[in-house]
Amino acid sequence: MKRTHNATSLDVDDLGIEVVLNGWVDSRRDHGGLIFIDLRDRSGIIQIVFSPEVNEEAFRLAEQVRSEYVVSVQGRVSHRPADTENPNLKTGKIEIYVDKMEIMNSAKTPPFYIEDGIEVDENLRLKYRYLDLRRREMRENLMLRHRVVKTMRDFLDTRGFIEVETPILTKSSPEGARDYLVPSRVHHGEFFALPQSPQIFKQLLMVSGMEKYFQVARCFRDEDLRADRQPEFTQLDIEMSFIDEEDIITLIEEMMVLLFKQGKERDITIPFPRLSYDEAMKKYGSDAPDLRFGLEIVDLTELLADVEFKVFASAISAGGAVRAINAKGCASFKRREIDSLGSMAVEYGARGMAWIVVAENELKSPITKFLSETQIEQILSALSAEPGDLILFGADSHEVVSRVLGVLRLELAKRLGLIDKNELNFVWIYDFPLFEYDAEEARYVAVHHMFTSPRLSDLDLLDSNPGAVKARAYDLVLNGTEIGGGSIRIHRRDWQEKVFSLLGMSMDEARDKFGYMLDAFEFGTPPHGGVAFGIDRLIMIMGGRSSIRDVIAFPKTQSAACPLTDAPSAVSSKQLRELALKIRDK
Ligand code: AMO
Ligand code: AMP
Repeated sequence: MKRTHNATSLDVDDLGIEVVLNGWVDSRRDHGGLIFIDLRDRSGIIQIVFSPEVNEEAFRLAEQVRSEYVVSVQGRVSHRPADTENPNLKTGKIEIYVDKMEIMNSAKTPPFYIEDGIEVDENLRLKYRYLDLRRREMRENLMLRHRVVKTMRDFLDTRGFIEVETPILTKSSPEGARDYLVPSRVHHGEFFALPQSPQIFKQLLMVSGMEKYFQVARCFRDEDLRADRQPEFTQLDIEMSFIDEEDIITLIEEMMVLLFKQGKERDITIPFPRLSYDEAMKKYGSDAPDLRFGLEIVDLTELLADVEFKVFASAISAGGAVRAINAKGCASFKRREIDSLGSMAVEYGARGMAWIVVAENELKSPITKFLSETQIEQILSALSAEPGDLILFGADSHEVVSRVLGVLRLELAKRLGLIDKNELNFVWIYDFPLFEYDAEEARYVAVHHMFTSPRLSDLDLLDSNPGAVKARAYDLVLNGTEIGGGSIRIHRRDWQEKVFSLLGMSMDEARDKFGYMLDAFEFGTPPHGGVAFGIDRLIMIMGGRSSIRDVIAFPKTQSAACPLTDAPSAVSSKQLRELALKIRDK
């Protein structure tokens, strides 16, 4: 019996018609004389009813079915008796009286309930992902993803972009993570790298005159995983020629309006606010700040220039900073709660966490004894502290203070429930430094990536003070997550070679790794730039999820494995021999 309708396409308008539905048994309730089944298909759920008076044979079959059996039913659309209507279901006013049923397939008892909000070990969900995806919330995530990606494609198409596929088997495209490597059978001892992004190819497409490119592109990065990172993820990758930062920013803002409208029926306001990297680091301790709440960090370095307290004085004299956060209303925190914030600070690299509790008539603190009356007054006033507040301090290098207070700021917002889960807070971060110094490697590394153009007004700083050069880069942050980033690129061979050398690359190494790109720059390369969005991250936030694994059909675990297929796994010695590879004992 072939289906005539989807479960939720039926309504009271269809009363009396004869329909055939196919789907899964979501649940079955046996009321003696009547059996009720909630029938589920991709569209949702509808109640079907079996009565021996309508059809004895169907009733007997209904006695046998269990959850997740696949069935086909034929029956008539009826009104539910008024007191049995279910306002929670789209089809809650109707039911189908079955006069014929076929069991298309049986099912074992699933290892977990097929329903929303289950609390099950994620490994089990991933092992039986095909069952996990039967749950409504998971299905809706994938449908949202489909709608959003379709809207992206349609939007970019109307703006004159063309989608071009770039290779998966390729040469390393550095974005700062480790590469996934694929050994070549034909060229023994040689490897392809899976792309960390289509960065170089999209730039070559600009050299080839494509002008406006996009791709829904799979990217691979072998890095430590977190809730918002997967080893294999999808970018909306964009590149354009003859444009500047404003063209990209405007394009993306207009696209976001459409994505939230089509995806979530939500109106968002553009243009998005912008914040410089320096300001973001100073005030929020992060280059991806969550601006859904305040708790701004206040810089006290200048104010405390003459401080004697050795912890603060030594940070300042070493060129670092003293900054603080006013945890509004947290004076009531128990010592234990303050100490746990302190341990968190230490975990993120602080050497301690000084604090002042501003009580009604006194200050409680381990450090006020080291400060003068005036200094205390000035600190309290800089932080607009009132009785009832708790002030937390960080004193160290700029980098450590930003990181630690940034983490404490987020933690306080969570503890105090300051985050409105419904708010959508977008912010562009701009004026990133082009390089940052990596003490471990004793050289500069690119903050965005090595193809990003320096700000033109900073070109002469490249030699004298590379750390001070700003990049023509921008990130889009949504609710404290970096959802996208891009830049205007270098389009001249000499500038690109210069940047390679500042990154500590010899000319030979640069030619070996990127010679094909440098060569291309000599054949009429237009000025160009672009951006890439983490589609998984964007959908995660749109869908109100806290893990990107929930919006990827078949994701990897935190330890970069797939419990469903058991990948990665060992291969046969024959396969290894063909590749001229040998596994070394650990
Ligand atoms: P970037 O490395 O910033 O830039 O990546 C762009 C966006 O991709 C998402 N993203 C990830 N999502 C899930 N898992 C990961 N492991 C992961 N890594 C990154 C983020 C990020 O903002 N080629 C440049 C873009 C450009 O310059 O045009 C690039 O890849 O949301
Ligand atoms: P000490 O003099 O080391 O006992 O430190 C006095 C107070 O300053 C303690 O509350 C420490 O937690 C705090 N403290 C120590 N080092 C730092 C630092 N780098 N930043 C902020 N507070 C610190």
